[in-house]
Amino acid sequence: MGRFVIEGGRRLKGEVNINGSKNAALAIIPATLLASGPCVLSNLPNISDVDLSFEILRKMGATVNRQGKHVAIIDATSINSTEVPFNLAMKMRASYYYLGALLSKFNEANVAMPGGCNFGVRPINLHLNGFKSLGAEYRVDRGIIRLKAKHLQGTKIYFDVVSVGATINILLASVMAQGVTIIENAAKEPHIVDLANFLNSIGACIVGAGTNVIKIKGVSKLKSSNYTIIPDPIEAGSYMAMAAITKGDVVIKDITIKHLESIINKMESIGVHITRYDNSLRVCCADALKKADVTSQAYPGFPTDMQPQITALLTSAKGTSIVTEGIWNNRFQYVGELCRMGAVITVDGKVAVVEGGKRLTAAPVVACDLRAGAALVIAALGAKGITEIENTSYIERGYEDIVGKLTGLGAYIRKV
Ligand code: UD1
Repeated sequence: MGRFVIEGGRRLKGEVNINGSKNAALAIIPATLLASGPCVLSNLPNISDVDLSFEILRKMGATVNRQGKHVAIIDATSINSTEVPFNLAMKMRASYYYLGALLSKFNEANVAMPGGCNFGVRPINLHLNGFKSLGAEYRVDRGIIRLKAKHLQGTKIYFDVVSVGATINILLASVMAQGVTIIENAAKEPHIVDLANFLNSIGACIVGAGTNVIKIKGVSKLKSSNYTIIPDPIEAGSYMAMAAITKGDVVIKDITIKHLESIINKMESIGVHITRYDNSLRVCCADALKKADVTSQAYPGFPTDMQPQITALLTSAKGTSIVTEGIWNNRFQYVGELCRMGAVITVDGKVAVVEGGKRLTAAPVVACDLRAGAALVIAALGAKGITEIENTSYIERGYEDIVGKLTGLGAYIRKV
């Protein structure tokens, strides 16, 4: 699984570029299945989850040609299977986007119940009910979700919980349905807008992405396109926290600032100095940080995928901070590892109370998921001594070349 060795206490300084959004890429790659010719995707992050999604496409009969690290030409016109191999689907939650994409293209899809990061129960009832509303029948057979439809018919679909994944899956499933589909109480995350923009670039007719009502007018055929994926706001936010905890001075480049507003706002409120430029930010931190209360929410609220990282940063802020997880039932599993490094945090259900202001000390720790792993990297960069983080493959699922980028900023980090 790999181990990072990080010597804390070095001030990060310099520039770091941010790669393409993992979550956008993992929605757009399955969507290329709907195009009637090869699509060129640019600004793809070079991370293991993207490789896995390519492997799924190839196993189903597509050709994927990488052009360097961040561009791929995907021709899914030769796909001849409606089944995502079980062992691949199990490895990545986003494999369930092949349900919507395959159903849209073939009126049939067979994909294993998804795996992915464990933040408690992660139901998919909204996805399945949405497919059903569009005319598909489903059953679960030996862990595989099997969907079948005679044809897909547009309809109104209301989600009683805001769900990123269900919004994406219904977008994918409805682009070629007959008539109009309306998604109400849709999620508004930037990667949903990015998926809709990609689908529109291949000829779909989607309006309202980024608001809570999305309208999709079904079209009979989709063409191909060249498309550039948005920058990853969570990778950017993570480097902001790394700069802040080391009292650093870092320019974070190649970002979309409007996707980072909630993170910028929270960091400024605790005393991090942020200067905005067109596509970059300068993060400086000279003074002691102040406590804050943070609640993770759906976009444009503070992202749950930044909750572990801000908690790690708040261990260095003077006073008592309260972090409330507003999305998942069990997303504080990493707190025990921070406590191993001397953090004083108590958790009661979805609320963590952080008694901050004391410098952490190095310890051997274990990453339990992707963003939990990022939180441990942040903690280790600020801590006294040499921290060893086990299970780094989780971290590498979402952070391209994290060792190279941090080394470029003056950190001492190596992978063993
Ligand atoms: C996506 C992100 C993940 C992020 C999460 C919330 C990807 C690949 N993953 O996950 O990184 O943490 O959004 O921003 O983009 N729910 C239901 N029924 C459903 C689906 C969801 O009740 O059918 C509930 C979940 O239990 C959760 C909430 O809705 O409480 C949000 O989940 P959702 O937005 O669907 O998360 P994911 O799409 O799995």
